[in-house]
Amino acid sequence: MGETPDNKLLLRALRREPVERTPVWLMRQAGRYLPEYRAVRAQAGGFLEMVQEPELAAEVTLQPIRRFGMDGAILFSDILLPLQAMGMELVFDEAGPSLPRPLRTRGDVEALTLGDPRTSLAYVGRALELVRAGLPGGVTLLGFAGAPFTLASYAIEGGTSKSFLELKELMYREPATWEALLERLSAMVAEHLLFQHEKGAEALVLFDTWASTLTREDYRRYAAPWTARVVAAVGERVPLVLFAGQAEHLFDDLCAFGPAAVAVDHRSDLASAFERSRGRCALQGNLDPGVLLATPTEVARRTRALLESVRGLRGHVLNVGHGVLPATDPDCVAAFVETARELRA
Ligand code: CP3
Repeated sequence: MGETPDNKLLLRALRREPVERTPVWLMRQAGRYLPEYRAVRAQAGGFLEMVQEPELAAEVTLQPIRRFGMDGAILFSDILLPLQAMGMELVFDEAGPSLPRPLRTRGDVEALTLGDPRTSLAYVGRALELVRAGLPGGVTLLGFAGAPFTLASYAIEGGTSKSFLELKELMYREPATWEALLERLSAMVAEHLLFQHEKGAEALVLFDTWASTLTREDYRRYAAPWTARVVAAVGERVPLVLFAGQAEHLFDDLCAFGPAAVAVDHRSDLASAFERSRGRCALQGNLDPGVLLATPTEVARRTRALLESVRGLRGHVLNVGHGVLPATDPDCVAAFVETARELRA
C-alpha cells in the first residue's frame, strides 16, 4: 500500500486528517473468545506466563490481526504489571487479578520501588520489538498503561472493586499519602509509556477504567493533576488515546487534557460526543461490546448505523466502548471489522 510509518490510516485519523475509510481496532481484541488464544494460554500455563514471555505475548498480539485485519495491534500485556514491577505481589486467576497485600499506609507507599521500566519491564520492550517485526504494513502498533487513578484503585483495593471504600477512605482522610502514591504512579506510568514508544509503539492508550467513580469535582482534585502530568510527558511525542469507562460527566475534562483522542464509552451517544468535543481531539468508539453477542448480520447492521451517525466527521476511530467479552463469537468480530473496511468515508 506504499504506506510510510507516518501515514498509516489509524495515525492519520488520530491527527484528524482526511481518511478513505474509518480505521478500526477493538479493546481486548486478543483474548479468550479466540480459540488460538486459548491454545497458547493452555500451553503457557497462565496469563502472567504468557505476558512475560515475549514470544508468546507477540504471538497473541498478532493473532487477531492475522484473523481479522484490524488497523491497530495493541500489545498483549496488562495495566497491573507496573505495580508488580514496583514490588507488589500480583496474581491472576479465574476470578481476575488480585494484589494480596494492598497498600494502606504511607510506609506501604514509600516501600514502592521506582526503578526504570526499561529494566523492570524489559519483557514489554522485547515483545514490542517482536510484534513490530511481524506486523503487516499499514497496521499501527499500540502500547498502553493504566492511568494513575485506576492503578491506585487496584493497589489500594487489592483487586477490582465495586464501591472503592478503601480507596475513598485513604484518599479523603490521608491526602498526603494519596498524593505520594499518585506521584509515584504517574512517574512510573510516564516512563513506561515513553519506553514503549522507544520500542516501537506508534500510539499509546491510557486506561482510566474506574475514574468515573469520582464526581467531576473530586476527579479534578484527586485524579486529573496526575493524568495531566502523564499526558504532558508523552503527548507531545506520540499520539495518546484517553479511555475512561462510563465517564460522560468527565468528557469535557478528558478533552481538555489535549490527548490525540478520547475513547467514548458505549453508554454515551457518539454523535453528541463529537459535538461536545468541538474539534479538540479525535474520538474512539463506541459499539456496545454486548452487541457482539448478537448475530453477525445484526453486528454489521449496528456497525453501519454507528458509522452513518458520524459520517463526514474528521477523527473517528471505530472501536467497542469497552473490552470484547469472552463469550463473543469470532464471526461477530469479523463482521464488525469487515463492515468498517467496506464502507468508504
Ligand atoms: O487486547 C488487548 O486489549 C490488550 C491486552 C490488555 C489486557 N488487559 C489483557 C488481559 C489490555 C489493554 C488490558 C488492560 C486492562 N487490564 C484494564 C484497562 C482496560 C479495561 O478493560 O477497562 C484493566 C482494568 C485491567 C485489569 C484486568 N486484567 C482485569 C480486571 C482482568 C480480569 C477481567 C478479565 O477480562 O478476565 C484482567 C485480566 C486480563 N487482561 C485478561 C486479558 C486478555 C484475561 C486473562 C485470561 O484469563 O486469559
